[in-house]
This record gives sequence, structure tokens and C-alpha cells, in this order.
Amino acid sequence: MDSTGTLFLPPSGSTLAPEVDALMAFILYVCIFFSVIVFAGIIFFSIKYRRSRQKAEAEAGPSHSTALEITWTLVPLLLVMIIFVWGFRTYMKMSVVPKDALEIKVTAQKWFWSFAYPEGATSVNELVVPVGKPIKLLMSSKDVIHSFFVPAFRMKRDVLPNRYTITWFEATQEGNFDLACAEYCGSKHSGMIGKVRVVTDRAYADWLVSSSKAGEGLTPVQFGAKLYKSKECITCHSIDGSLIEAPSFLGVFGHEVAFNDGKRLIADENYLRESILNPAAKVVAGFQPIMPTYQTLLKDAEVDALVAYIKSLSKP
Ligand code: CUA
Repeated sequence: MDSTGTLFLPPSGSTLAPEVDALMAFILYVCIFFSVIVFAGIIFFSIKYRRSRQKAEAEAGPSHSTALEITWTLVPLLLVMIIFVWGFRTYMKMSVVPKDALEIKVTAQKWFWSFAYPEGATSVNELVVPVGKPIKLLMSSKDVIHSFFVPAFRMKRDVLPNRYTITWFEATQEGNFDLACAEYCGSKHSGMIGKVRVVTDRAYADWLVSSSKAGEGLTPVQFGAKLYKSKECITCHSIDGSLIEAPSFLGVFGHEVAFNDGKRLIADENYLRESILNPAAKVVAGFQPIMPTYQTLLKDAEVDALVAYIKSLSKP
């Protein structure tokens, strides 16, 4: 299958993409065909019946032509019926998830995507799937409305708080495909982007294994530094003292922190741990309680590593 995009369309990477493209092309060419006829008619008649210098009596117009009227009613009716039936069939295929689909849980929150796989692995901003297998996405949001959009798969579906939305796709080729949020969801909406990585069955199985022992061979601080990026802490917390959406990690540990309710404490390991798992418990003065909980996104060893990493960013 053609993997490169065209002037009008991105690369096509799913089983449904060619169907969507064919319908889109049909509608486009029908529109172009009739636009040309209408514009040619406008130009032709405005020249033919332009106002002349000699005064002429207006001729009596024709009353009507039954044949012409039936034609201009039936032809558009036929065209829109073709578009309706074609579109409805494709829409049904998009809506009905194949029975043998692999189900992956998608969670959207300001401002990143997280994925939970049936085998227990999780990932952030990178959806890893095997090629040639239907994938069902069970999606929900932790805050506002987001929209899961993968142009190469011709797939876009809103992700809502307090309910599930479901969509599916089957990737037809390996590769990396752009994932974006297509519903304005706040100041970092445009940064809510990721990848869908389509791999072979074998590579998918390997990835599941390796993601379960991601920290192997790393010190806790090194592992924490990796998680800081891969779990998107980096979106809101800097490590150089600058303010993004939230306090910087630089120099937090071992120093006094003031909270919105007027209380203060010296940041220790328990404070860091609590702030990761239950961020609303203590909100640093001057900030909004916008951080989502990482309760389901981090294993114990990962929380330990992040705490170790944040500690390493403070001079004793
Ligand atoms: Cu999430 Cu826009």
C-alpha cells in the first residue's frame, strides 16, 4: 500500500483509510465537475445576454421544461443517495469493533495520553500496537473533552470525562504515525501530541516484556530521569528552576514549601510520594490543583525512582 501522503491527504496506514479516501475523492470530483459547469454557465450567459447599446424589447421567457426539471431533480438525488449509502457503510465499519480486537485503554488528561495494555504494561504518549490486528480503544478523560486523532488512520474520536467512547483501527503497515489532540483543551492543547508505533507481532511481544522491566540496569536516579520524560512530568515541571505550569523540581527536596491553605513543611520523601499519587492533598501556594493523579500510571519502583531523581536535583 502507498505509504506516502499526497498534496491533499496524509499517508494511509489503516484498513479504513482507503475507503475514506475514495469517498472523499468522489465527493471532491463531483463538486469540481458541477462547479465547472455552473461557472462556465455564468460566464457564458453573462456574455451572451449582456446589456447592448440598442434598446431591445425583452423577449417573453419560456414557461417551463418538464424534462429539464426532472433531470435537475433526479441527478442530484442520485448523487446524494450514492454519497449517503457509501458514507453510511463506511461509518458502520468504523463503528462496529471486530470481535477479536485487542483492547487498549486510553486515558486523556491535561495534557498527555496514557495507554494501558491488556497484559498490564502502560505507556505515555506512545501507543504501541501490532500490525495487521484490529485494535479496540476504550477511551475516557480525567478532566475536559479531548479528541483522539490519528490522521494516517483517518480516525478521530472525542474522549470525554465520565463516560467511555470506543473506536478501533487495524494498522496495515509498520511505522510511526502522528497522534494529536483535536479538541481545544487548555493552554497546552497543542503540545498534547504523541505517536502510534506500529510494529510486528514479535516486536510487540518484546516491547511488552521490556516495558515490564524498564528500570533494569539503571540506577534509581537514571531511571527517574527517564520516567521524568516518558511519563510527561516534563510537560509541567522544569528541572532548571523555571516555571511552566507547576513548581520546578530544582531544589524542592529538603527545602520549605508553602501551601495554598497557609501550611508549610520541609519537602521530604513522603511529601514527594504523596504529591505524585495524590497531588490535590497539598497544593503549593500560588498554583492551581491541575495535576492528575499518577496512582494507576506508576508502579512502586517507578515512584521510588522519581523520588530519587527529584532528590538528586537538590544540593544537600
Ligand atoms: Cu487535549 Cu486538546
